[in-house]
Amino acid sequence: MRSDGRRRRRWSAGEVQEALVISGEIPLWLVDGDDRIAFVNDAAVRTLGYDSDDELLGRPSHDTVHWKHPDGSPYPAEDCPITHATRRGEPIRMERDWWVRKDGSMVPISIHCVQMEIDGRMGTAMTFHDLTASVEAEQERRRYDVERARLGEVRASRTRIVEAADEQRRRLVRDLHDGAQSGLVRIVLALQLALRGGDVPGEVRTLVGDALGDARSAIDELRELAHGIHPAVLTRSGLAAGVRAMADRASVPVVVDVADERYPEPVELAAYFVAAEALTNVAKYARASTARVTTTRTESHLVLTVDDDGIGGARASAGRGLAGLADRLAALDGTLTVSSQPGKGTCVRAEIPLSTPAPPAAAAELDVPPHDIERLA
Ligand SMILES: Nc1ncnc2c1ncn2[C@@H]1O[C@H](COP(=O)(O)OP(=O)(O)O)[C@@H](O)[C@H]1O
Ligand SMILES: [Mg+2]
Repeated sequence: MRSDGRRRRRWSAGEVQEALVISGEIPLWLVDGDDRIAFVNDAAVRTLGYDSDDELLGRPSHDTVHWKHPDGSPYPAEDCPITHATRRGEPIRMERDWWVRKDGSMVPISIHCVQMEIDGRMGTAMTFHDLTASVEAEQERRRYDVERARLGEVRASRTRIVEAADEQRRRLVRDLHDGAQSGLVRIVLALQLALRGGDVPGEVRTLVGDALGDARSAIDELRELAHGIHPAVLTRSGLAAGVRAMADRASVPVVVDVADERYPEPVELAAYFVAAEALTNVAKYARASTARVTTTRTESHLVLTVDDDGIGGARASAGRGLAGLADRLAALDGTLTVSSQPGKGTCVRAEIPLSTPAPPAAAAELDVPPHDIERLA
């Protein structure tokens, strides 16, 4: 009894049914004291894939819609919290459960059950919501997260591969410098010393002189080789100096329009290798009379282009050079574009982000099991 004297009114099952049937879109399910379906509204019939309530009325509730788990294993009534709460006459709310449709497929639902008198005995009224849309949205988000994590892993591994290759190049150049090159320098010094003595016969002098010439050319060749592997000038003096040195050795006149600005080492290296490959291609294939290397800097990117006025027709997919560069740039989140129509020259354009790519969100952080990543791959 309330203090204002008004009596808390008990709603009859009929009244509740009527109200909910009229209000309509919320699926309603009434179960009598024997766990038999006493009433279902149209929304419930539709949600569970039946054609009419006749197919459901009088059937055992749990065994009709709740008899298996989503993985197909049986779900006995004794294990069901709804059944237990119903028997104890307690209300129960389940945020996520799965019921079985007429065709055996599963529908994700949230359920709210309250005790209610039905035909003179205690039964249960259940309202439920079809969660299909939110479950699908959740799965979509998860797929997206997995895909993002996978792409992040791929990018990170590509970056690691490029970094490892660069480190190997650096080591190789150091070894060449400290090993073969310094050995040759010692030979040159020894030969110079040998020639300094006054009593060297003319024939020997000629032979030693030739050997000296050969050793000096070998040093030049080694230096050239080391430069191609990992250009010291780049690390020392930057991209503009590196490109200018390259242009000086090029087979056609090259206009260099590159700012004297320093960038992070991976950016300089990538830009340098693009210029080197593109200028080598100009010499090998373009039949050009001139080429131009240009850089521009946007807020976020270094853009390097190499143009020539040759025969055109370059295709990145036709060889290894440009494709390898595209991979190197991709490791930095950059891009390589080749525009080359026959007869209209070639333009190779690299866009390189100035900041190193953010570390990828690890799959572990996203709570995504590795096999999900594989499945989506
Ligand atoms: N500047 C250019 N002018 C004309 N053709 C080019 C030019 N650059 C590249 N090509 C063509 O595109 C192909 C792909 O170039 P690239 O990937 O560097 O391959 P490669 O490893 O053979 O040098 C070359 O084999 C060549 O036929
Ligand atoms: Mg090439």
